[in-house]
Amino acid sequence: MKFFVDTADTKDIAELAATGLLDGVTTNPSLIAKSGRDFMEVTKEICALVNGPVSAEVVALDHPTMMKEAEILRKIADNVCIKVPLTIDGLKTCKALTEDGTMVNVTLCFSANQALLAAKAGATFISPFVGRHDDNGFDGMQLISDIRLIYDNYDFETAILVASVRHAVHVLESAKIGADVMTAPPAVIKSLFNHVLTEKGIQGFLADWAKTGQSIG
Ligand code: G3P
Repeated sequence: MKFFVDTADTKDIAELAATGLLDGVTTNPSLIAKSGRDFMEVTKEICALVNGPVSAEVVALDHPTMMKEAEILRKIADNVCIKVPLTIDGLKTCKALTEDGTMVNVTLCFSANQALLAAKAGATFISPFVGRHDDNGFDGMQLISDIRLIYDNYDFETAILVASVRHAVHVLESAKIGADVMTAPPAVIKSLFNHVLTEKGIQGFLADWAKTGQSIG
């Protein structure tokens, strides 16, 4: 499963990229606002920090203006992936862009039928929001299972990008289901490295090593 980070904070992106475990980045208008940075400038900087896809979202709601915005965004770098909302105009834009060889991430997916439509529109990625689905009394991970089943039934190549990931269990369940990608905030990705017994084990080994009076090298 690929790991994308869901942020527009370049410091966090650079830190995670240095681990060699980061496969891409997702942003959205809320994350750009949170960064306080210029959209074009920060997106260009992010594209240079990672080799994989960097999702940059259009804000227009109609197809012609979405196409104009996508035209501007895709010139930023070769690894820009245009993010469009799951609407009729968004999927029209998705079809036009993917037919032209541009990567498209269809966002704000909350049903398996919506995911089916996005795959039929040739989406590179579909982004089901598991956290927001859970928040509203639905089962976010069941949505991922349903989409996996449907995509496998018809050999759709659209990658399932689990979004709105809130904690480590979302990551674990995504991997068990066979999601292609998950995108999570930096803190959630960093939490995956932690285990109390790993920390306790290190402390124990260091204490015993000190007793030997030896050093390596
Ligand atoms: O980038 C889309 C998605 O990951 C947003 O997550 O936490 O705002 O629901 P959240």
